[in-house]
Amino acid sequence: MLSRRQTLRYLGIAAGGMLFNVPLIGRGQQSTFETALNIPDMASGSVVEEARQFDLTLQSGRTELLPGQFASTYGINGSYLGPTLRLNRYELSRFSVTNNLAEDSSLHWHGFHLPPTEDGGPHQPIAPGTTWNARFQVVQYGGTYWYHSHVMHKSGEQVYKGLAGMIIVDDEEHPQDLPSTYGVDDIPLILQDRRFDDEGELRYLNRYQDIVMGMMGDTILVNGTFQPQFRPSTRLVRFRILNAANARTFNLALNDGRPFQQIAGDGGLLSSPVTMNSLQLAPAERAEIVVAFNPGDSTELVSLGRDIPASAPPGAMNEMLRIINSERFRLLSLNAESRLADSGTVPDSLVAIYRIPEAAATNTRRFNLMMGSGMRSGEDRGPGDGPRNGTGGGSGGGNYFINGRQMAIDYINERVTLNTTEIWELRNRSPMMHPFHIHNGQFQLLDRNGTPPPDNEMGWKDTVRVDSGEVVRLIMRFTDYTDENNPYMYHCHILEHEDRGMMGQFVLVNS
Ligand code: C2O
Ligand code: CU
Ligand code: CU
Repeated sequence: MLSRRQTLRYLGIAAGGMLFNVPLIGRGQQSTFETALNIPDMASGSVVEEARQFDLTLQSGRTELLPGQFASTYGINGSYLGPTLRLNRYELSRFSVTNNLAEDSSLHWHGFHLPPTEDGGPHQPIAPGTTWNARFQVVQYGGTYWYHSHVMHKSGEQVYKGLAGMIIVDDEEHPQDLPSTYGVDDIPLILQDRRFDDEGELRYLNRYQDIVMGMMGDTILVNGTFQPQFRPSTRLVRFRILNAANARTFNLALNDGRPFQQIAGDGGLLSSPVTMNSLQLAPAERAEIVVAFNPGDSTELVSLGRDIPASAPPGAMNEMLRIINSERFRLLSLNAESRLADSGTVPDSLVAIYRIPEAAATNTRRFNLMMGSGMRSGEDRGPGDGPRNGTGGGSGGGNYFINGRQMAIDYINERVTLNTTEIWELRNRSPMMHPFHIHNGQFQLLDRNGTPPPDNEMGWKDTVRVDSGEVVRLIMRFTDYTDENNPYMYHCHILEHEDRGMMGQFVLVNS
């Protein structure tokens, strides 16, 4: 905790340091949260010829994000965000995605094991006025996933404008008792931070530090709702939380300190519920939590400010990094009805999770995450023999590297052999955290700096926080869908980092 004097000193730095105009208390943080939380429509598609078919249209529009003010936004089948897509495990799903925007876009199914041509990444751009058709069999476990724009160099801007939505996969092995009535006791929470101008229009990358730190806003939207309130009508409520922010990590807690149970992570249920008081969720990570209410209860979902380290090395960059995620935000006011229905229970044991044995791995790949600020070390060429395309950047140059290399659309960084198990060792050699994401499925964490991960990270994951200086080892099996020509991506999910080079490509090959 900071003393009042430290806080004042810190505020002085922030105000006087020129780099920061971000108010510590975001817009509206003082007022009451009274607007009913928007619940995105649920789309179950329609079954046509043995496949579940979804028709999705990328469109632009005007959305009243702040009360009485309209912003130019993007959305899917609407003006901001998209419907919650409901898929069934083992079913074939088909998506027709029509781009009615005035620029190229794409739609990526985050967290899914699928052929690379169906992935919706930078190699599947959808030109304005055209339709892209994707199809894949859903093999993911029941859980919370998402979809979002992934067009080269512009994912950040397009997601910021609203091109994202939640996906829920249903799975018959799912414990029946868990709260699961969408919009009643099973509530999607899409967390985003945004910055607005005086007219209520979204601002993007209008400050120097946005490119370095990633785009962070001072105003929180949940499912696109400003200052939202949800009124539980059941004793147990399950929240499916998606961090859809471009760059901000949320440190979730209930402001009265009540514990909650985390039941799922990125790739489905944990083996058993984990009781938590706070939960860090980096961009693209998901968590399902269950919160218990008494009749008439009031509490609030908040993001706790991270403690500011007492000292940091000098320099503007370090000052910026020092305060990342130090702001506290109110996210959602929760006011239970005076009578609550009983709805479900949380079983002590949820699902059996097969742990991939470390000994199954036949190869270890190392990935160094680096930022091009100040001096750039030149010793690391990374794997492959292609040209180095990184040029460094100087302080705040806004260039990001994996193994000394920036994403190049026609350069394959890694070749992975079919039906092998690999360890990927992620080493963060930069001064800030990077959430590392791998396409084409789910992995498991082996350790963080040699220590086994906490219980709530023992499930399947597709995105993992790698803190500054940390070494994270994960293990992943690579099956199906070999394709010499069409790669999958791996990247930092701070979208401004991804858009500026912190991404690489791998192909899955027969040998
Ligand atoms: Cu959420 Cu490469 O994406
Ligand atoms: Cu992805
Ligand atoms: Cu990053």
